[in-house]
Amino acid sequence: MEANMPKRKEPGKSLRIKVISMGNAEVGKSCIIKRYCEKRFVSKYLATIGIDYGVTKVQVRDREIKVNIFDMAGHPFFYEVRNEFYKDTQGVILVYDVGQKDSFDALDAWLAEMKQDLGPHGNMENIVFAVCANKIDCTKHRCVDESEGRLWAESKGFLYFETSAQTGEGINEMFQTFYVSIVDLCENGGKRPFTNSSASFTKEQADTIRRIRNSKDSWDMLGVKPGASRDEVNKAYRKLAVLLHPDKCVAPGSEDAFKAVVNARTALLKNIK
Ligand code: GTP
Ligand code: MG
Repeated sequence: MEANMPKRKEPGKSLRIKVISMGNAEVGKSCIIKRYCEKRFVSKYLATIGIDYGVTKVQVRDREIKVNIFDMAGHPFFYEVRNEFYKDTQGVILVYDVGQKDSFDALDAWLAEMKQDLGPHGNMENIVFAVCANKIDCTKHRCVDESEGRLWAESKGFLYFETSAQTGEGINEMFQTFYVSIVDLCENGGKRPFTNSSASFTKEQADTIRRIRNSKDSWDMLGVKPGASRDEVNKAYRKLAVLLHPDKCVAPGSEDAFKAVVNARTALLKNIK
């Protein structure tokens, strides 16, 4: 039996699970949990000191689930406290603030911290991850859009939700789907539930969309050297068009990436004799 699987129980009987929250300081981890458990929002920032612990009961299908929630402090200062709490976890709520690019870029480092603390025998494959793109109510400051977040999450087989702890948007839906997925995982012998979206696009498509987003000019976007010939531009374009055409590619952001590639090709061909 896998290390982080809870004890097997008869269907219909109660199940005890452990979930943790993860993500940079101030992204809204505690507020998301408070919004779900206490139906309220506190606008004043009260940094979590180390870990906050709570127990709650939820019903999933015919099962009663006892949930132990460990709400982690995001500040690097609390690393030594956090690292005790990663093991034996069935679900992770991984949060970033859509108005703070740093908090989105930090998601990989959070996964790395968890992986490191679980050690060589720890298995991240049998943990359900729910990524929360939080503070979507702050539309003016938003700098990480939905397709970018969704692409990151779904290419890893994680659930993705747009949330606001302030308005409550997306919170119940997130927890319900999260708990159902954890129960499915427990009932499926510890295998993360198959999600359509995680299997419907390739790593190459996801990486290409990310590369296009981050490209510095049209040459870079098409992946050709500045000064390339018409033939080279057209060849590069065709390759990307086949990979990203919206009829063929369902990866989040593929439509925008495809449009950007079309525009880049048009702009380059205008200036090449
Ligand atoms: P640490 O415990 O330090 O790791 O931070 P945290 O991630 O738990 O953040 P917390 O939940 O304490 O929220 C940080 C600040 O963001 C607080 O001032 C909250 O009121 C605010 N906040 C949290 N969620 C939202 C949201 O969805 N929208 C808006 N506008 N503010 C939010
Ligand atoms: Mg907190």
